[in-house]
Amino acid sequence: MNFSDSEIVASILEEKGFRNTNNIGDADVIFINTCSIRDHAEQRVRKRLDHMQSLKRKNPRLVVGLLGCMAERLKTQLLEEEQVLDIIAGPDSYRDLPRLMEEVESGHKAVNTLLSAEETYADIAPVRYDSNGISAYISIMRGCENYCAYCVVPYVRGQERSRDVSSIIRESEDLFRNGYREVTLLGQNVNSYQWMLDGKKTGFAELLEKVATVNPLLRIRFATSHPKDLSDELIQTISRHKNICKSIHLPVQSGSNRILDRMNRGYTCEQYLKRIDAIRSILPGCAISTDIITGFCDETEEDHHDTLSLMEKVGYDYAFMFRYSERPDTLAADHYQDNVPEEIKERRLREVIDLQQKLSWQNNKKDVGKTFEVLVEGFSRRSPEHIAGRNSQNKVVVFPATGNTPGDYVNVKISRFTSATLLGDAV
Ligand code: 5AD
Ligand code: SF4
Repeated sequence: MNFSDSEIVASILEEKGFRNTNNIGDADVIFINTCSIRDHAEQRVRKRLDHMQSLKRKNPRLVVGLLGCMAERLKTQLLEEEQVLDIIAGPDSYRDLPRLMEEVESGHKAVNTLLSAEETYADIAPVRYDSNGISAYISIMRGCENYCAYCVVPYVRGQERSRDVSSIIRESEDLFRNGYREVTLLGQNVNSYQWMLDGKKTGFAELLEKVATVNPLLRIRFATSHPKDLSDELIQTISRHKNICKSIHLPVQSGSNRILDRMNRGYTCEQYLKRIDAIRSILPGCAISTDIITGFCDETEEDHHDTLSLMEKVGYDYAFMFRYSERPDTLAADHYQDNVPEEIKERRLREVIDLQQKLSWQNNKKDVGKTFEVLVEGFSRRSPEHIAGRNSQNKVVVFPATGNTPGDYVNVKISRFTSATLLGDAV
């Protein structure tokens, strides 16, 4: 999400004549795009700002701005705490950056943290930063109104709003024309995407279908699905199109009904497992990944074991795993105590990570002998004689170079594996 925002900011600035530099010492303006989701993310930004102090000593005309969620959360308080900052801009005020820079030029500090109910940056063609030229992100909606008890996103990214369907299709077509072969449609809860035009509603399943028909050689991925909103209709749409990837990210967060209720997730483990059954029966061979939080308020050892056993039941292919980090002003911060000691959160996280490592290994082992269509992304990081790409299930596949170039589709038969990578040969 943040990466995609940086591409929008780059586009707005390029329009005004700014150019990107890879050498930070040459920069006249530095924008730091920030995330507030865990305290650790904010602490890292604070360290980066210390480094900005030394750059500013060398170049007193340097302008430093802080963008995104942390800017939104802390607003003008940041100007008091971090003297080095000249600009504070929240996630809905990127169009205002040129004006904010003019304000700084006239000797003032500049702030815009207004959230909008409409801004989707639909008309802005993002500058593709640091891209492999093959896969790109397309932001299809902004904000979130789910108010999970631990989460700061609804407060820092505002109301949920969807982007005009035609601008998404246009962006997909442009990317394909420019050689891209994979797009990932991004939103906090893509299943509630909805665009109204002349009284006609386009939901996420229809949007996906429309993007899938841009070209059969364009692969489509999407994230993130909320388990309470993942419909059979959507799973069926995925099954109808070969180029919609067979990989679903379905964050469960916890395997205990008591904790899910406290988290305000809106589903029980039984309901979640029913969604998993639907995926397994409609989309055999689909990869399933998740997010898990350990040590949420009042989580007992029994709750933690329920999480481990749910992970075993689902047999996830991949997981993003975090220990709970209390965020100021969220429902959990206001109503519950952050009462699981750090060392217990950490130990539970270790156990969750170890189990996931085992599950990924087991799943990859089952892939030996299968043949997958791999979209080539480039050379392997480890060896220039090997090519790396991904299969539809989003697993990295490495195989000996066969003269293929990025963007090609190659059938690869798997012969070996690690818990993170499949290895094989082109067939
Ligand atoms: N502490 C730890 N993890 C969190 N996440 C969101 N908020 C927090 C928090 N306060 C995790 C959730 C979410 C992912 C993007 O980040 O698992 O799905
Ligand atoms: Fe946060 Fe929940 Fe919204 Fe995801 S769905 S962004 S976890 S509030």
